[in-house]
Amino acid sequence: ESPHVSAVIEGLCATVTDYPKPGIVFQDLTPVFANGPALKQVVDAIVCAFAGKFDAVAGVEARGFLLAAAAAYATGTGVITIRKAGKLPREVLSESYSLEYGEATLELHQGDVPAGTRVLILDDVLATGGTLGAAAALLERTGAVVAGVGVVLEIDGLPGRDNLAGHEVLSLLHV
Ligand code: PRP
Repeated sequence: ESPHVSAVIEGLCATVTDYPKPGIVFQDLTPVFANGPALKQVVDAIVCAFAGKFDAVAGVEARGFLLAAAAAYATGTGVITIRKAGKLPREVLSESYSLEYGEATLELHQGDVPAGTRVLILDDVLATGGTLGAAAALLERTGAVVAGVGVVLEIDGLPGRDNLAGHEVLSLLHV
């Protein structure tokens, strides 16, 4: 029997202190993405938890794109691209938010998501929830329904879940 997905993630995740700024403990999941069986187990676990509940998968730049594309491909759904400011070429909706280490803006193309689409939002890490809260707000402003939020790793002790109140949140590992 293969180890539980949380143990697989814990074994591969690299913890980097003082990155990108002093005082921040960065959870680097690139070794999980780089490991074929681990990536498959992670994506399967997320897709399985929300089976039948979504019509599209949104990925948040940058690491969320990796999960979203894999989950969408696995389920025959499409990927919705939520990007940092200034990267999308057509008319956008924008949401600004505070990060643990600064301020940022996320954008979504107007018209990329038909109204009523049930969208599963994916990212690698849930920390303060600023990023995923802004992503959920963008999707709701465009008329989509947030089907749920999935992350590989959630940092406990931060208000991540408070910023996602009202949404089903799946975290495969808590640290
Ligand atoms: C990281 C991570 C999440 C976000 C989580 O992204 O990938 O998107 O921070 O933090 P929060 O819950 O406090 O908002 P980062 O801003 O480093 O962007 P990147 O993926 O483009 O490197």
